[in-house]
Amino acid sequence: MDAVRIRGSRRLNGRIPVGGAKNAALPILCATLLSDGESLLRRVPRLRDIETTAALLRFLGRNVEVATPEVRVAAASSPVRPEAPYELVRQMRASVLVLGPLLARFGRAKVSLPGGCAIGARPIDQHLQGLQALGAKIRVEHGYVIAEAPRLRGAEIVFDLSTVTGTENLMMAAALARGRTTLVNCAREPEVEELGKVLNKMGAAVEGAGTATIHITGRDELEPFDHAIISDRIEAGTFMAAIAAAGGNVLVEHAPFDDLEPVIVKLRQTGVGIEREGDGIRVWREQPIRPVDVTTAPHPGFPTDMQAQFMALMCVAEGRSVLTETIFENRFMHVPELLRMGADIETRNNTAIVQGVGALSGASVMATDLRASASLVIAGLVAEGETVVRRVYHLDRGYEAIEKKLAGVGADIERVRVDARPP
Ligand code: EPU
Repeated sequence: MDAVRIRGSRRLNGRIPVGGAKNAALPILCATLLSDGESLLRRVPRLRDIETTAALLRFLGRNVEVATPEVRVAAASSPVRPEAPYELVRQMRASVLVLGPLLARFGRAKVSLPGGCAIGARPIDQHLQGLQALGAKIRVEHGYVIAEAPRLRGAEIVFDLSTVTGTENLMMAAALARGRTTLVNCAREPEVEELGKVLNKMGAAVEGAGTATIHITGRDELEPFDHAIISDRIEAGTFMAAIAAAGGNVLVEHAPFDDLEPVIVKLRQTGVGIEREGDGIRVWREQPIRPVDVTTAPHPGFPTDMQAQFMALMCVAEGRSVLTETIFENRFMHVPELLRMGADIETRNNTAIVQGVGALSGASVMATDLRASASLVIAGLVAEGETVVRRVYHLDRGYEAIEKKLAGVGADIERVRVDARPP
């Protein structure tokens, strides 16, 4: 089994590149289902979640050629089988993003219910209610959602809460619906805005993607597209937190400054220097880290996908900080592992009170989900001695060659083989 071994206490210097955004690439890959011609995606990161999506599209009957950073998707000669099996959805919840496109394009979709995951229950009721409002008949049988509608028709839909993939699923469905759809209380994440741009390239008229209200005028048919994926704000933010924690001076290349505003504001409050430089962001830290409180919120609030990494930084701040998680009910799985590295953290419901300690100490730790793994890597970079982060397959879902990229700025980090049994 692969693990990442880190020998900590090294400052980071140089340049580190950011790749295309996982959470933009996944819905855009699913959007290829809306048309038959060959679509070309550029700047696609080499990640396990991309491979899982490619496998799903192939299962559905598409020709998928993955040569990252480019991916081509086209209709195969055999007819589409509009069915996403449990085996694939289980590996990646975002597989539910095929529901909207399949239903809109083929009149029927059978998609496994994703179930819960390490960070929370994560229901999809908002996706289903929205599709029903567009005219779909939906039933749940044997763990599968079966949705049917000869032709969806535009409607006005108000989301009860902000949901990223829920907004994306409905945008894709509405793009082939008859008439105009208005989505209210939408997720405003940059990845939603990006999907809007792609749907417009395909010929749907989407207005307001990236704001709370989106209007979509559906078309009878959509065209294939050629699109370069935006930079991954969470990968960039993870590197920024790593540089803040380890100290040093690094240019984070191709980092989306505007999308990272909430993270930048909080990092600057900790005393970290941050400036826009070309299409990247320069990050440096000389002084001790000041404690800063953070509450996660839908975009443009502080992203839940950066909470674990920020907590690793707060573990070595000079004082006490309070981190509140409002998006997922179980996203503190990194806390027990950080405690094993000498951190001082107390959790109460959705709040973590972090008392900064002089230094963390290297330990063998276990990753439980993608962003938790990233926080353990950051903790390893500042810890004294050696840290081994196990279950690296979580990291491989969302970070391309993270150990190589961090080694490139001076971290002592490498991928190693370890005994499959936990220590
Ligand atoms: N929710 C519902 N009902 C729904 C949909 C969502 O109650 O029908 C709840 C969820 O349980 C959660 C909250 O609403 O408490 C927000 O969930 P959302 O639907 O926005 O999350 P998601 O679309 O499943 C995406 C990202 C996640 C990221 C969240 C929040 C993708 C593929 N995934 O998930 O990314 O944490 O938005 O920003 O875009 C990651 O990359 O590590 C990751 C988990």
